Amino acid sequence: MISKQTIDKIFSTIRVEEIVGEYVQLKRAGSNFKGLSPFHEEKTPSFVVSASKQIWKDFSTGKGGTAISFLMEIENFTYPEALRHAAKKYGIEIEEDQKDFSEEAKMAQSERDQLYKIHEVANDFFQNFLWEVEEGKNIGLSYFKERELRDDIIKKFQLGYSPEKKNAFTEYALEKGYSKDLLEKSGLSIFPENSPSGIDRFRERVMFPIHSFSGRVLGFGARILRNNVKTAKYLNSPETEIYHKSNVLYGLNQSKQAISRKNVCLLVEGYMDVISLHMSGIENVVASSGTSLTTEQIKLIKRLTENVTILFDGDNAGIKASFRSIDMLLTEGMNIRVLLFPDGDDPDSFARKHPQEYVEKFIENEAMDFIDFKAEILLKNIGDDPIKKAEAIRDIVKSVSFVQNALKREVYLKQVSGKFGLSEQSLFNELNVQKQITQGQTHHVQQQQKETAPVKMDVVPLDEEKSDPFLFEVLFMENKLIDHMLMFGDIVLKRKNESEEEYQITVIEEILYHFDEEEYRFLVKGNEIIIGHVKEGIQNEELRSGNFFITFMDEEITTKVVDALLPANELENWASRNIFPPNYGDKIADQVKGDILLHKYRYIDYLIAETARELDHYRDSDQTKYFELVQKIMLMKQASIKLSQMIEYSPIKGIYVNRKR
Ligand code: UTP
Ligand code: MN
Repeated sequence: MISKQTIDKIFSTIRVEEIVGEYVQLKRAGSNFKGLSPFHEEKTPSFVVSASKQIWKDFSTGKGGTAISFLMEIENFTYPEALRHAAKKYGIEIEEDQKDFSEEAKMAQSERDQLYKIHEVANDFFQNFLWEVEEGKNIGLSYFKERELRDDIIKKFQLGYSPEKKNAFTEYALEKGYSKDLLEKSGLSIFPENSPSGIDRFRERVMFPIHSFSGRVLGFGARILRNNVKTAKYLNSPETEIYHKSNVLYGLNQSKQAISRKNVCLLVEGYMDVISLHMSGIENVVASSGTSLTTEQIKLIKRLTENVTILFDGDNAGIKASFRSIDMLLTEGMNIRVLLFPDGDDPDSFARKHPQEYVEKFIENEAMDFIDFKAEILLKNIGDDPIKKAEAIRDIVKSVSFVQNALKREVYLKQVSGKFGLSEQSLFNELNVQKQITQGQTHHVQQQQKETAPVKMDVVPLDEEKSDPFLFEVLFMENKLIDHMLMFGDIVLKRKNESEEEYQITVIEEILYHFDEEEYRFLVKGNEIIIGHVKEGIQNEELRSGNFFITFMDEEITTKVVDALLPANELENWASRNIFPPNYGDKIADQVKGDILLHKYRYIDYLIAETARELDHYRDSDQTKYFELVQKIMLMKQASIKLSQMIEYSPIKGIYVNRKR
C-alpha cells in the first residue's frame, strides 16, 4: 500500500492543469483553462480546469474531480495505478506502507515487479536491435518497411527484433545482473541441462510487445520472417505470473482513449490488423490474438464501451466458431455488430488499400447486427429445406436468449419475427425453452452483476421525487445547503444573538447547527456521508469543506463537490471577467440565512404531507393515534405559516432573505 505521507505529497505536488494538459489542449480562460472534452466528441469546449481549485469538470458528461481522478478516468487506472503514474511523472518516490502485508504477499509483489522490469529490459533490447543494429535494420526493419509500416507506427507499438544469435538477450540480461531464475520464470530464456549459458525463446523474429491496460509490457508475440520453416508463424510468451493471455487484449493500451471517445470497440484477429488500422487513423481497435474471446477480455472492453463491432476476413473459416464469442458478448450485456470484409480481404489489407474515411464509412454502413449476420451465415446454401431453416432460426433465438436486458430481448425477438414472418408468440415460446437451457450458463454472470451493481445514492426513487412536489422542494434545499458548506464552508459570518450581541460562526457550523436542531433526516445518502465527515472534522477541530472532499474516491461525492465548486453558469462569468461579486461575505451571510429558513419551511411542509398520508392509515383503525396526528399537523401548520411570514424573496439580491421585522 502507498503510505499516507506519499499520497499527501503526491496531491500537494501535482498540478491538475499539467496532467490534464497532456491529454487535452487547454486554453486560458480567466482564472480557468478550457478545452475540448476528451470523453466526448464536441466542437465547442465544455471541459474546464480550475488551477486555483486544482479540479476539472467536464460539462458535456458531468464528470469531474482531481488530477488523480482524471487519470483514473482517462487511462482507466485504479486509484493506486493513478497515484503511481503521477508520482513517476513528478519524480516522487513511493513509500510503501507494508505493515498489512504478509511476508509471502511481499515476496509475490516483488516477484511480479521483477517480471515487469525484465520485460521492460527485453522490450528496450529488441527495439534497440531493430533501430540501431545492422542485423536488426537489415532484417527486421526492412520487413516492416516491406509491409509499409511508418516509423511512427513502429515506435507507437514498440515493435522490435530478436537477433539470430542463440542467447543474445539472455547473455545481455545475465550481464546486467538479472538472475537465471527470473529469466526462466519470465519465459524469455530457457536453460536446458546441456546449455548452461541459456537460450533465448525468441530468435530471428520481429517482436510485438503485449501491453497491459496501463501500458506495462506483459509478454511478446513474435513473428517468424522466413516462410519455408515448419514452426508456427507466431511464437507467443508462455503464461507467467504477469501474463495471462485470457486477460489481455492486444492494442488495448494504444486504443483505449479512442474506444472510449468513439464509444465503440472494433475487434479484430491479429496483431497486424490492429497496427494497420491505427496507421490509417482508425484507433479504436483491439485483437483477441488468436484465442477465442474470454469473459475477462470482454470486461476489459466494457470499462470503455458497451459497443463492439467484430471485423472478419471475408474467407474466414472460423466464422461459425465466432458464434460463441457473440453469445458471450451478449451475455455480458454488449451491443454487437459484425462486419464481413469482401473475399480475400482482412482488416489489414483492406485498411492499406483504402483511405481512412472510406474504411470508416465501410465499417459504419456494412456492419450488420448479430441477427442479420447469423441469418446470412446460417441460411447460406440451405435452399428451401424447412428443417434446416427451423434449425437456423432456433440458433438465432438462442443468441437472443443470452441478451440480459428484457426490453432489448423483446426488440430483437420482434426483429426475428419480422425477418422470418413467424409469430412473436411462437418465437417467445422458443426463447423460453432456450433460456432454460442457457440459464445454467448465464447464472454466474447475473450473480456477478448483482454484486458489482453501483450503490444508488438517492434513497428516494427518482419518479417518486417527481410526483411529490414537497419531496422535490426539500431535496432541492437539502442539496443547496450542502453545496454552501462545500463551496464556502470556512467563511466566517457575523451574527447577532437575541440580546443583540455579536458573535462569529462559520458557514459549516451554522448549517450543521440547523440540521441538528431540526433533527433533520437526510434524503440523499451522499449528503449524509458528507455531513458525517464534517462532524468528524469538527471533533478534530478542522473545517472540512470542498477541498477535503475532492480527494474522496467515492465518485458520486467527488462529482457533487466539483459541481458545487464549479457551477456551470457562474463559471462563465468568472472565466470571462475574473471578478467576485461586491460584498461577497455579506451576500453569503444573507444567502445562507435565507436558505436555512427556506429549507426549514420546505421540510415542515414535507413532514405535513407525510403525516397527512399516515393519517389516512389510522382514520378507521386507531382513533387516539388519529387525533394525535391531527394535533401534530396543526402545530406544524402554525410553524409553517410563521415561517412563510419570515421569508421573503429579494428581487435585488436574487435570493430568499429573512424579512425585516
Ligand atoms: P494471422 O495469421 O492472421 O496473423 O493470425 P497477423 O497478425 O494478421 O499477421 P500477418 O499478417 O500474417 O503478419 C491472427 C492472430 O493469431 C495469432 C496471432 O495473435 C495473430 O496475430 N497466431 C497466429 C498465433 O498466435 N500463432 C500463429 O502461428 C498464428
Ligand atoms: Mn491476419
